[in-house]
Amino acid sequence: QDNIQDILENTLFSEADIHEMCTRLGKQLTEEYAGKEPVLVGALTGAIYFMTDLSRQMDVKCKMDFIDVSSYGNGTESSGKVKLVKDVSTDVKGKDVLIIEDIVDTGHTLKFMKDHFMELGARSVKCAALLNKPSRRVDDVTVDFYGSEVGNQFVVGYGLDFYGMYRNIPFIGIVKPEVIQAYANK
Ligand code: PRP
Ligand code: MN
Ligand code: MG
Repeated sequence: QDNIQDILENTLFSEADIHEMCTRLGKQLTEEYAGKEPVLVGALTGAIYFMTDLSRQMDVKCKMDFIDVSSYGNGTESSGKVKLVKDVSTDVKGKDVLIIEDIVDTGHTLKFMKDHFMELGARSVKCAALLNKPSRRVDDVTVDFYGSEVGNQFVVGYGLDFYGMYRNIPFIGIVKPEVIQAYANK
């Protein structure tokens, strides 16, 4: 089978880069939520590493929960349809919800989650995403806090998957276009 280095064009963000982004965002969010008790909601599955690293950089009393809202299915293109697979078990009514995402692409997933938590009666709903890909945005939705913008490349690692795999690469790399092409033709 493929080795990780065989599918990657290059590294986009090293482990040190990611740590720096988490530290910076953690400080920002510590100020933002001072005196509040937010509910951090990680979007499964991509946000798992960012959720654990970012939350440990936040000096904030908070609850943590997860929501599963997959939209991509197995491929590399958004289907446009967002499916609620698993809702949070925390009561978010009157609470400040901070959605944690690995990446915001078309915005379908984030728009769905923001609307969902507003409907559940949250006091505020914001999002912290590690990566923001504004060139692909379809839905008009605000990424309130993010680590870095990325161009229109397919990124993988640190939670981000390629056909469900390679999430556990500890850094973020760019998948070779020919590899994406090869998988698309399978
Ligand atoms: C990916 C990513 C975001 C979403 C962004 O999740 O983790 O949640 O897509 O894309 P969008 O802005 O176009 O909606 P995916 O649905 O692939 O599920 P996963 O987190 O389990 O990989
Ligand atoms: Mn996701
Ligand atoms: Mg995915």
